[in-house]
Amino acid sequence: MTADDLDQMTALLSDPEVMRYYPAPKTRQDAANWIAWNERNYAEHGFGPWIIELHDGTFVGDCGLTVQTVEGERLVEVGYHLMPAWHGRGLATEAACAVRDEARDGGISHLIAIIRPANLPSQRVAEKIGLHLERRTSVHDLDCLVYGADL
Ligand SMILES: CC(C)(COP(=O)(O)OP(=O)(O)OC[C@H]1O[C@@H](n2cnc3c(N)ncnc32)[C@H](O)[C@@H]1OP(=O)(O)O)[C@@H](O)C(=O)NCCC(=O)NCCS
Repeated sequence: MTADDLDQMTALLSDPEVMRYYPAPKTRQDAANWIAWNERNYAEHGFGPWIIELHDGTFVGDCGLTVQTVEGERLVEVGYHLMPAWHGRGLATEAACAVRDEARDGGISHLIAIIRPANLPSQRVAEKIGLHLERRTSVHDLDCLVYGADL
Protein backbone atom coordinates (compact mmCIF):
# COMPACT_ATOMS: atom_id res chain seq x y z
CA MET A 1 0.00 0.00 0.00
CA THR A 2 1.39 3.36 -1.04
CA ALA A 3 0.13 6.90 -1.60
CA ASP A 4 -0.77 5.77 -5.14
CA ASP A 5 -3.58 3.70 -3.58
CA LEU A 6 -5.31 6.74 -2.06
CA ASP A 7 -8.31 6.82 -4.44
CA GLN A 8 -9.07 3.14 -3.92
CA MET A 9 -8.41 3.20 -0.17
CA THR A 10 -10.72 6.23 0.12
CA ALA A 11 -13.45 4.33 -1.76
CA LEU A 12 -12.94 1.36 0.59
CA LEU A 13 -12.78 3.17 3.91
CA SER A 14 -15.57 5.67 3.12
CA ASP A 15 -18.03 2.93 2.10
CA PRO A 16 -20.82 2.74 4.72
CA GLU A 17 -21.21 -1.03 4.30
CA VAL A 18 -17.49 -1.68 4.76
CA MET A 19 -17.44 0.64 7.79
CA ARG A 20 -20.69 -0.72 9.23
CA TYR A 21 -19.03 -2.02 12.40
CA TYR A 22 -16.75 1.00 12.86
CA PRO A 23 -17.73 4.26 14.58
CA ALA A 24 -18.05 6.09 11.22
CA PRO A 25 -16.98 5.91 7.57
CA LYS A 26 -13.58 7.50 6.90
CA THR A 27 -12.78 10.60 4.88
CA ARG A 28 -10.15 10.95 2.15
CA GLN A 29 -7.87 12.58 4.75
CA ASP A 30 -8.44 9.60 7.09
CA ALA A 31 -7.49 7.26 4.22
CA ALA A 32 -4.30 9.28 3.60
CA ASN A 33 -3.49 9.05 7.32
CA TRP A 34 -4.18 5.28 7.22
CA ILE A 35 -1.72 4.82 4.33
CA ALA A 36 0.92 6.96 6.08
CA TRP A 37 0.42 4.92 9.29
CA ASN A 38 0.84 1.72 7.27
CA GLU A 39 4.06 2.97 5.74
CA ARG A 40 5.34 3.52 9.29
CA ASN A 41 4.16 -0.02 10.15
CA TYR A 42 6.15 -1.46 7.22
CA ALA A 43 9.26 0.44 8.36
CA GLU A 44 8.93 -0.40 12.05
CA HIS A 45 7.61 -3.97 11.98
CA GLY A 46 8.17 -5.22 8.43
CA PHE A 47 4.42 -5.73 8.08
CA GLY A 48 1.15 -3.84 7.90
CA PRO A 49 -2.07 -4.04 5.93
CA TRP A 50 -1.38 -4.95 2.28
CA ILE A 51 -3.54 -4.40 -0.80
CA ILE A 52 -5.66 -7.32 -2.04
CA GLU A 53 -6.06 -7.38 -5.81
CA LEU A 54 -7.12 -9.87 -8.45
CA HIS A 55 -4.48 -11.33 -10.76
CA ASP A 56 -5.47 -8.68 -13.35
CA GLY A 57 -4.76 -5.90 -10.84
CA THR A 58 -8.39 -5.13 -9.94
CA PHE A 59 -8.54 -3.58 -6.47
CA VAL A 60 -10.43 -5.74 -3.93
CA GLY A 61 -9.49 -4.35 -0.50
CA ASP A 62 -6.82 -4.68 2.15
CA CYS A 63 -5.65 -7.41 4.50
CA GLY A 64 -2.65 -7.56 6.76
CA LEU A 65 -1.08 -7.33 10.19
CA THR A 66 -1.02 -4.59 12.81
CA VAL A 67 0.14 -4.41 16.40
CA GLN A 68 -2.79 -3.84 18.81
CA THR A 69 -3.00 -3.42 22.57
CA VAL A 70 -5.59 -5.64 24.27
CA GLU A 71 -5.91 -5.25 28.05
CA GLY A 72 -2.34 -3.94 28.17
CA GLU A 73 -0.93 -6.76 26.04
CA ARG A 74 0.73 -6.02 22.68
CA LEU A 75 -0.54 -8.54 20.13
CA VAL A 76 -0.45 -8.93 16.36
CA GLU A 77 -3.83 -8.71 14.66
CA VAL A 78 -4.95 -9.86 11.22
CA GLY A 79 -7.42 -7.40 9.68
CA TYR A 80 -9.40 -7.31 6.42
CA HIS A 81 -11.70 -4.94 4.52
CA LEU A 82 -13.14 -5.78 1.10
CA MET A 83 -15.15 -3.71 -1.37
CA PRO A 84 -18.80 -4.88 -1.12
CA ALA A 85 -18.82 -6.08 -4.74
CA TRP A 86 -16.30 -8.76 -3.75
CA HIS A 87 -17.95 -10.01 -0.54
CA GLY A 88 -19.09 -13.61 -0.26
CA ARG A 89 -16.59 -15.17 -2.70
CA GLY A 90 -14.04 -16.47 -0.21
CA LEU A 91 -11.54 -13.72 -1.00
CA ALA A 92 -11.17 -12.46 2.59
CA THR A 93 -10.50 -16.01 3.74
CA GLU A 94 -7.95 -16.55 0.97
CA ALA A 95 -6.16 -13.29 1.82
CA ALA A 96 -6.29 -13.87 5.58
CA CYS A 97 -4.89 -17.41 5.18
CA ALA A 98 -1.92 -16.01 3.26
CA VAL A 99 -1.41 -13.30 5.90
CA ARG A 100 -1.63 -15.87 8.74
CA ASP A 101 1.04 -17.98 7.01
CA GLU A 102 3.22 -14.90 6.50
CA ALA A 103 2.86 -14.09 10.22
CA ARG A 104 3.80 -17.66 11.20
CA ASP A 105 6.79 -17.69 8.82
CA GLY A 106 7.87 -14.33 10.25
CA GLY A 107 8.05 -15.79 13.77
CA ILE A 108 4.84 -14.33 15.23
CA SER A 109 3.75 -16.85 17.84
CA HIS A 110 0.17 -15.72 18.46
CA LEU A 111 -2.29 -14.11 16.07
CA ILE A 112 -5.56 -12.38 16.99
CA ALA A 113 -8.55 -10.76 15.31
CA ILE A 114 -10.56 -8.10 17.17
CA ILE A 115 -14.18 -8.22 15.99
CA ARG A 116 -17.46 -6.52 16.98
CA PRO A 117 -20.00 -9.06 18.32
CA ALA A 118 -22.50 -8.30 15.51
CA ASN A 119 -19.92 -8.76 12.73
CA LEU A 120 -20.70 -12.37 11.90
CA PRO A 121 -18.96 -12.50 8.47
CA SER A 122 -15.68 -11.38 10.07
CA GLN A 123 -16.04 -13.94 12.88
CA ARG A 124 -16.58 -16.63 10.25
CA VAL A 125 -13.41 -15.57 8.39
CA ALA A 126 -11.47 -15.72 11.67
CA GLU A 127 -12.78 -19.23 12.34
CA LYS A 128 -11.98 -20.37 8.81
CA ILE A 129 -8.31 -19.36 9.23
CA GLY A 130 -8.08 -21.31 12.49
CA LEU A 131 -8.72 -18.66 15.15
CA HIS A 132 -11.14 -19.28 18.03
CA LEU A 133 -12.89 -17.03 20.53
CA GLU A 134 -10.49 -16.21 23.37
CA ARG A 135 -12.16 -13.35 25.26
CA ARG A 136 -14.67 -10.52 25.15
CA THR A 137 -13.34 -7.15 26.21
CA SER A 138 -13.30 -3.43 25.50
CA VAL A 139 -10.87 -2.26 22.79
CA HIS A 140 -10.73 1.48 21.98
CA ASP A 141 -13.83 1.79 24.21
CA LEU A 142 -15.81 -0.65 22.04
CA ASP A 143 -17.19 -4.01 23.13
CA CYS A 144 -15.21 -6.58 21.10
CA LEU A 145 -14.60 -10.29 20.71
CA VAL A 146 -10.97 -11.34 20.53
CA TYR A 147 -10.36 -14.40 18.36
CA GLY A 148 -6.89 -15.91 18.43
CA ALA A 149 -4.60 -18.88 17.99
CA ASP A 150 -1.00 -19.90 18.49
CA LEU A 151 0.74 -20.21 15.12
C1 LIG B 1 -15.57 -9.40 6.82
C2 LIG B 1 -15.29 -9.43 5.31
C3 LIG B 1 -13.85 -9.02 5.06
C4 LIG B 1 -15.54 -10.85 4.79
O1 LIG B 1 -15.19 -10.87 3.40
P1 LIG B 1 -15.67 -12.04 2.41
O2 LIG B 1 -14.72 -12.08 1.25
O3 LIG B 1 -17.12 -11.88 2.13
O4 LIG B 1 -15.44 -13.33 3.32
P2 LIG B 1 -15.46 -14.84 2.85
O5 LIG B 1 -16.31 -14.96 1.61
O6 LIG B 1 -14.05 -15.31 2.79
O7 LIG B 1 -16.16 -15.57 4.09
C5 LIG B 1 -17.33 -15.01 4.67
C6 LIG B 1 -17.99 -16.04 5.55
O8 LIG B 1 -18.98 -15.37 6.36
C7 LIG B 1 -20.23 -16.01 6.17
N1 LIG B 1 -21.27 -15.02 6.35
C8 LIG B 1 -21.57 -13.98 5.56
N2 LIG B 1 -22.59 -13.28 6.08
C9 LIG B 1 -22.92 -13.91 7.25
C10 LIG B 1 -23.89 -13.67 8.26
N3 LIG B 1 -24.73 -12.63 8.18
N4 LIG B 1 -23.93 -14.51 9.30
C11 LIG B 1 -23.09 -15.53 9.41
N5 LIG B 1 -22.12 -15.82 8.48
C12 LIG B 1 -22.06 -15.01 7.43
C13 LIG B 1 -20.16 -16.55 4.75
O9 LIG B 1 -21.15 -17.54 4.54
C14 LIG B 1 -18.73 -17.10 4.74
O10 LIG B 1 -18.64 -18.31 5.47
P3 LIG B 1 -18.70 -19.78 4.74
O11 LIG B 1 -17.53 -19.82 3.80
O12 LIG B 1 -18.58 -20.74 5.87
O13 LIG B 1 -20.00 -19.83 4.01
C15 LIG B 1 -16.23 -8.46 4.55
O14 LIG B 1 -17.56 -8.73 4.93
C16 LIG B 1 -15.94 -7.00 4.84
O15 LIG B 1 -15.10 -6.39 4.18
N6 LIG B 1 -16.63 -6.43 5.82
C17 LIG B 1 -16.47 -5.02 6.14
C18 LIG B 1 -15.15 -4.76 6.84
C19 LIG B 1 -15.03 -5.53 8.14
O16 LIG B 1 -15.99 -5.62 8.91
N7 LIG B 1 -13.83 -6.06 8.38
C20 LIG B 1 -13.55 -6.85 9.55
C21 LIG B 1 -13.34 -5.98 10.74
S1 LIG B 1 -13.08 -6.98 12.21
